[in-house]
Amino acid sequence: MELTERRRFLEDYRTIRHAEGRGSEDPAYYRALPYQDLSGNNAWQWSIRARSFRYFERAILAPLERQHMRPLEILDLGAGNCWMSYRLAIRKHHPVALDIFADSRDGLLAARKYPRSFPVLEAQFDELPFPSRSFDLAIFNASIHYSSDYRRTLTEVRRCLRPEGCFVIIDSPIYRQPEHGESMRTERRRQFQQQYGFPSDALPSLEYLDEPELARLAEDLEIEWHIHRVWYGWSWFLRPWKARMQGRRPPSRFWILVGAFVKP
Ligand SMILES: C[S@@+](CC[C@H](N)C(=O)[O-])C[C@H]1O[C@@H](n2cnc3c(N)ncnc32)[C@H](O)[C@@H]1O
Repeated sequence: MELTERRRFLEDYRTIRHAEGRGSEDPAYYRALPYQDLSGNNAWQWSIRARSFRYFERAILAPLERQHMRPLEILDLGAGNCWMSYRLAIRKHHPVALDIFADSRDGLLAARKYPRSFPVLEAQFDELPFPSRSFDLAIFNASIHYSSDYRRTLTEVRRCLRPEGCFVIIDSPIYRQPEHGESMRTERRRQFQQQYGFPSDALPSLEYLDEPELARLAEDLEIEWHIHRVWYGWSWFLRPWKARMQGRRPPSRFWILVGAFVKP
């Protein structure tokens, strides 16, 4: 990632996120995430994220805890305001929050707002500043779709994971067909252009995953995927039908994906 690209991305990203009302001056806001959005600005989105997180804790993290019987070394990749790292620290794990965004409301500096401390690192997930085989678990929480090259990003994760380690993808848009993801990307850029005067395309982020790409990644990198389908409620469940009736493209799904490398 070029420095100029990165600077432009971060400027655009900050503008959009602040306009969306992300973050708060009140530390209670951060401590309540993901269960409650005390600002009320993005409450519906946080209600979805809370469901993903509850599912992750119960069906993915708890079995790993039973398997290891010790605190886990966890990489929180694209950690944003670090709420996931805080939640993991409360469970006595050892998270490292990594992001390219150091903002005090919506990026790594928000880590100061939590009553527990954990390491935070300004770095990009394609060049992880860690020795090989250092982590039990890597989490991309609403972040892997910012990658511009999934093979490169996941190869770096593979290097940093211990042989029995795995990675988890949460809250990233996954489409059945790539053309549906491409339509979403075009719509999003048009909307940003109209609303903010720029398309927010400084980084060549892929912005979504699709089923054929997941199959290719499995083959190329020898990944075994375990797909978890979370129940987000009836209105979420009915979105594809609603879209079809209205003649719109199918919406994305938020599957939770657990990936394990067959040959670490
Ligand atoms: C939508 S936010 C998600 C933040 C947080 N994980 C959460 O669940 O709320 C995506 C984050 O990914 C970060 N990001 C984007 N590209 C990145 C990269 N190449 N390396 C590290 N972080 C990146 C952004 O700066 C942003 O904080």
